[in-house]
This record gives sequence, structure tokens and C-alpha cells, in this order.
Amino acid sequence: MTQNTEFKKQAAEKAVEEIESGMVIGLGSGSTFYFALQKIGSLIKTGELKDITAIPSSINSEKIARELDIPLITFKEKQEIDITIDGADEVDKYLNLIKGGGAAHLREKVIAQASKKLIIVVDESKLSEKLGTNWAVPVEVLQFAYPLEQKFLESINGKPTLRVYQTGEPVITDEGNFILDTNFGIIQNPFELAEKLENRAGIIEHGLFLRLTSKVIVAGNDGIKILEK
Ligand code: A5P
Repeated sequence: MTQNTEFKKQAAEKAVEEIESGMVIGLGSGSTFYFALQKIGSLIKTGELKDITAIPSSINSEKIARELDIPLITFKEKQEIDITIDGADEVDKYLNLIKGGGAAHLREKVIAQASKKLIIVVDESKLSEKLGTNWAVPVEVLQFAYPLEQKFLESINGKPTLRVYQTGEPVITDEGNFILDTNFGIIQNPFELAEKLENRAGIIEHGLFLRLTSKVIVAGNDGIKILEK
């Protein structure tokens, strides 16, 4: 199923309805979240949302938020986020996710873990029975360690591919690391896999977001659906 921009917009704008004046919000990343960012910007501009402060998950979201005059803070000012809205690459029936298609999953996970509520916005193409059906797991690795971690990922039956730009140069994340997009096939036990990945010093973070989601807003041919645990 191909991604649908109109559905992305519908899901993202629906999520923004949950934001109230005075909240600290987490800003996700990616093309779906982009529509939420635009909406938040316009509600702040018209005064419908007041006293909002936001913590962005990527340099790109930070840049767009600044252009939209969304007041930004850092974790130095506040260590708890009321609501984070973000996209995802794949969502399973337990609301576990694969994220990191935009290489921002490290900070996205930091923000998700600091959030009272994580609302994921997707078009219906992102739903799968099991993670790994349509998407490889982005694994962020230290540049120094990447050949080593590549070998490790192969040893646990993954097929890692170094993410590169069109020029052939490796993609470098906001934190200065490489990404190994690792195809594990259909993932029967994402928790077991996450634990293996988390045991490696050279792996900075992986794109499995487990038990973090509060709600998924899905837009598709049959309208908007809310998935909750
Ligand atoms: C960024 O690294 C990602 O986690 C995105 O949130 C995810 O890839 C979804 O992106 P789209 O909304 O662009 O599909």
C-alpha cells in the first residue's frame, strides 16, 4: 500500500486537537508530523493556542518551528512533556512501532520517553500485523564501530545496509552517527531483538519503539480511526 499525503494531513491535524494552551509539547519529525507542525503554528498565530512551549526532535523540525514562531525550549527548562505528536514507519496491533525513516529516532525516543502522552499519526499504509513486514529497523551506530556492528547485526540474522545519500555518501544523523537499515524479516519478538541491540556499545539507538505509544491516529479510506491500548 502506498503512502497517502492527504491521509497524513488528516491524521496529523486530528492529533493537534489534543493540544491545550499552556502545554509543553514534543515535536516529532517527518512528512506526517510536518502537517501537525503547520497546524500548531497557525493556532499559535491566531491565538487559539497560548503559552505553548515545544521541544523539537530534529534539526529540521527545529528549523520549521522557528519559521512558524513556535516558542522552543530545551530539557534544561522542562524535563516533562505533556503531549508529543510524531509519525511512524510501521505500527503493529499492540501499537509498537518502527521509526527512524528520517534518521531522527534517537532524539525522538528521548522525547517519547519524557512524554506523558505519545500520539502517533499515520496514514493506513503504515499498519502491519507484525513489525518488520514492510520496514527494516533503522539502527543508529557510532561511525567508529559501524563495520563491527554490521557484522553483529548479520550474526543475529539481520541484513544491514548502510544508509547513503544519492551521492553515495553515508547519511549522518543529527548526532553525528551512521544508520544501518537492518532487515530482520517479520519480527516475532521485538522485545528480545531490542534487548540484543541495546547490549551493544556501538549501537546508539534503534528504531523499535516498544510500549511507548499512548494512541495512534490513522487516516484512510474509511476515515479517521483512533487506536488505543
Ligand atoms: C523520523 O526519523 C521518523 O521516525 C519519522 O517519524 C517516520 O519516519 C515517519 O515519517 P513520515 O511521516 O515522513 O512517513
